[in-house]
Amino acid sequence: MSFDTTEHNRHRHCFDGVSSVWLFGYGSLIYKVDFPFLEQCPAMIEGWARRFWQGSHDHRGTPDSPGRVVTLIEQPGACCKGMAYRVAPDVFEHLDVREKNGYLRFTTTMTFNDGRQAEGLVYIADAHNAAFLGPADEADIARQIAVSQGPSGRNDEYLLKLAEALRQLGDDDPHVFAIEGYLR
Ligand code: SIN
Repeated sequence: MSFDTTEHNRHRHCFDGVSSVWLFGYGSLIYKVDFPFLEQCPAMIEGWARRFWQGSHDHRGTPDSPGRVVTLIEQPGACCKGMAYRVAPDVFEHLDVREKNGYLRFTTTMTFNDGRQAEGLVYIADAHNAAFLGPADEADIARQIAVSQGPSGRNDEYLLKLAEALRQLGDDDPHVFAIEGYLR
């Protein structure tokens, strides 16, 4: 698969007759909300763990010197907290471009804080995409993040904003907070 998943995503879901769609955000979509939404609720998805295993060649790094951003890795028993947004389908025209570096839209069940559930979409960059960097020691991940930057800014800003947003959600994500600790 090429780095650019925009076209791929355009054909993955049919929004005909659909007025709104729930989107689950677990990374920059929690704190960088550059899209309109109809409703917003803290939520979680089960069976997935957030990991800084995806390369960023377009936002927080460059093709020659990629940064690291989060994706989701399947892990039975894990629970990933994030933010759910109910959006109009045309919002995905913008989001597909923003998330184009290897992320594909998948359907998921999300659970809101009050226990209600909804089906929706989530962007995941799986291990088969060309920008996937995979696991590394958390101290090494922090070192890579410390020196990377790209058109959207410094990679450490991505990490620190995510860690702060997770604290505000009452999340305790050992992976993100360990990398933040090494960075600081
Ligand atoms: C997300 O936030 O849900 C996707 C990953 C990212 O853009 O950081």
